[in-house]
Amino acid sequence: MLKHTLIFGHRGYPQKFPENSLAGFRYSIQHQIDGLEFDVHLTKDSVPVIIHDETIDRTTDGSGEVNSYTFAELRQFKLRNAEPIPSLAEILNLAAYQAVHLNLEFKTDKKHYAHIEKIVLKMIRESDLKFPVIFSSFNLETLKICHQLDPSQQYCWLTERQVPDAEKFVKETGLAGLHLQHYQQVNVPQRLWTIDDENSARSLFEAGVDGLITDNFEQMKLLQKQLFS
Ligand code: G3P
Ligand code: MG
Repeated sequence: MLKHTLIFGHRGYPQKFPENSLAGFRYSIQHQIDGLEFDVHLTKDSVPVIIHDETIDRTTDGSGEVNSYTFAELRQFKLRNAEPIPSLAEILNLAAYQAVHLNLEFKTDKKHYAHIEKIVLKMIRESDLKFPVIFSSFNLETLKICHQLDPSQQYCWLTERQVPDAEKFVKETGLAGLHLQHYQQVNVPQRLWTIDDENSARSLFEAGVDGLITDNFEQMKLLQKQLFS
């Protein structure tokens, strides 16, 4: 019996919708995605918003740093489907009471956002989500701060490299697992990104990893169905 591997949409459903857009998140939830991965930054007035880059240039009709705008100012810029950049509050509303896992990535590896950990954890505690959030970050310091603020949540380190002595590392740092680009044969919860080809997905399903983070969740769902039915 294969262990059930959850499928997470990487920035929502970027093969069909603008990345990190409410339309992509909404469609994915309506079509039974297992989980959603998305990226969080803070505006100038400390509102958590969902966007990948530190600047809005690549994904909106505006330019400049996310953090140089207040939330009200930022909302004037549009994604390619004419939606504004979503706030964390909006995705929490969308996912409330739904059978969907959220993987919230703190984008703190390039920029420091004062108190982002405290602000985000408070919002999560006050939300009506069905499942515990999986927090991740490339920045271990962020995860450490989160762990001090609320040790009851799950924190996973994102890394592109192999983690030596992964089991010991995870235990000692109080992490709940690793989010990896390369599979490691270790007894540690792990989710892999970005998995868009069927051969890689098949071997990861067979290895029984906890999750795949993909740009094309519908293709991965079909494969999951074939393997698990
Ligand atoms: O969480 C997996 C993945 O999203 C990490 O890389 O740059 O796509 O946020 P990135
Ligand atoms: Mg991400």
